Amino acid sequence: MAGISRRELLLGSTGTVAAFAAGGFLSRQAQAAAHSLTLARIRHSVLPGTITGNMMSFAPDGPPPVLRFKKGQATSIDVRNGLDEASVVHWHGLRIANGMDGVPYLTQLPIEAGQQFRYQFTPPDAGTFWYHPHCNTLEQMARGLTGVLVVEEDEDPGFDQDLPLNIRDFRLGGDGQFIDLFKPRNAARGGTYGTVSTVNWKVAPHYELAAGSLVRLRLAVTDVTRVGTYDITGGDAQLIALDSNPLPKPIPAKDVVLSPGQRADIALRVPDNDGGTVRLHLKRPNGDKELAVFLPRGQSARRDLRELKPLAPNPVPEPDLANAEVLDFVFGWSPEGGAPQASICGSLGYTFWSINRTAWAGDLPGPFDPLATLRLGKSYILRFRNETPNAHPIHLHGVSFRLLRSNKRQLAPLVTDTALLLENETMEVALVADNPGDWAFHCHVIEHQKTGLAGFLRIAE
Ligand code: C2O
Ligand code: CU
Ligand code: CU
Repeated sequence: MAGISRRELLLGSTGTVAAFAAGGFLSRQAQAAAHSLTLARIRHSVLPGTITGNMMSFAPDGPPPVLRFKKGQATSIDVRNGLDEASVVHWHGLRIANGMDGVPYLTQLPIEAGQQFRYQFTPPDAGTFWYHPHCNTLEQMARGLTGVLVVEEDEDPGFDQDLPLNIRDFRLGGDGQFIDLFKPRNAARGGTYGTVSTVNWKVAPHYELAAGSLVRLRLAVTDVTRVGTYDITGGDAQLIALDSNPLPKPIPAKDVVLSPGQRADIALRVPDNDGGTVRLHLKRPNGDKELAVFLPRGQSARRDLRELKPLAPNPVPEPDLANAEVLDFVFGWSPEGGAPQASICGSLGYTFWSINRTAWAGDLPGPFDPLATLRLGKSYILRFRNETPNAHPIHLHGVSFRLLRSNKRQLAPLVTDTALLLENETMEVALVADNPGDWAFHCHVIEHQKTGLAGFLRIAE
């Protein structure tokens, strides 16, 4: 029994881990992982006065926990699948080894019901990230499986408090129970919206913050569909990072557009006690929606935003644009429109979308052809052409890219892993293919991803 922690011994008294022990879990992995997640069906009160059944979380007793890692430090997470179906966990935005990326068949086998998998990696970048399944993705995410992941900087920038905000909708009826998770006619358009907006699984939560303090708000839009404009009123709020990458210079946190998968770090100077409340809004044409309220409490800490240390840029390599090869990607309708093949990771039963005229066949053993093969270490310009009348947040696993230009608007030269491609827009982004493996590449409107708008890029020697 040497090397088995007290915690595992305690856990070992439950049926779940005993089952893993039978599969060799305790003998092979006697050392406890630094973190553990248990996928479970739970009941939870989201809509006040109701209890939602049949939710899914990464913890058996509440919303998904915020995971906190440190930049450049190895970590490990034991994922125990307590669902009655297969799953797999992806760490959105982390540039880690391909085998730990959590995509079924492309990087690992699905984690079957009752099984577990240990993820081990070293996050190279600091910032706000998130995690979610990549198997039966629409249903599992819609039911709750989306969590915020924080990678802390080497050097503390000097905030008094750090507050992750997991922003998403749930599709609930007035009785608090799930209604149909999507409608096919919406999946073929902009996607199906949820009915209840939440922050950290609460409707318009109130947070008490120390008056006059400096708070880092970490907005993570983990919704399956909604592209939104977020706004903060009532306090001095500066946008300091987008999609984990610091802005060269902070700008006022006004009208921040975030699509599914995107994150914004905001430095908030909480007003003094008599200075009123701060509100986070989702802007909508038919009236803004209040997502969260922040109330100053106590004596003013008298902090000043200028006391914060600027965030250091992440070590994302700069593409060599003069020698970059251009690769074209066309996002369009599906040429055939047949149903995708059945998979242990589910299927929505429709094919509506494609990349380069090919619809993703489903989460299947394959082998499938990559959309493109990139040479390790070389620079590329990816040209995204959207020939549809809908917007698509295009996400690439494993490597970050820099926004270059668009035929429709001025693009800030941001580094990201998820870029909102507007209707009929052509956008160019650039990257260095520095991380070998097969990397999923898809729209982050999950209905689009699951009805064809997905594929992968191969980075090979
Ligand atoms: Cu956040 Cu492939 O996904
Ligand atoms: Cu991802
Ligand atoms: Cu899309």
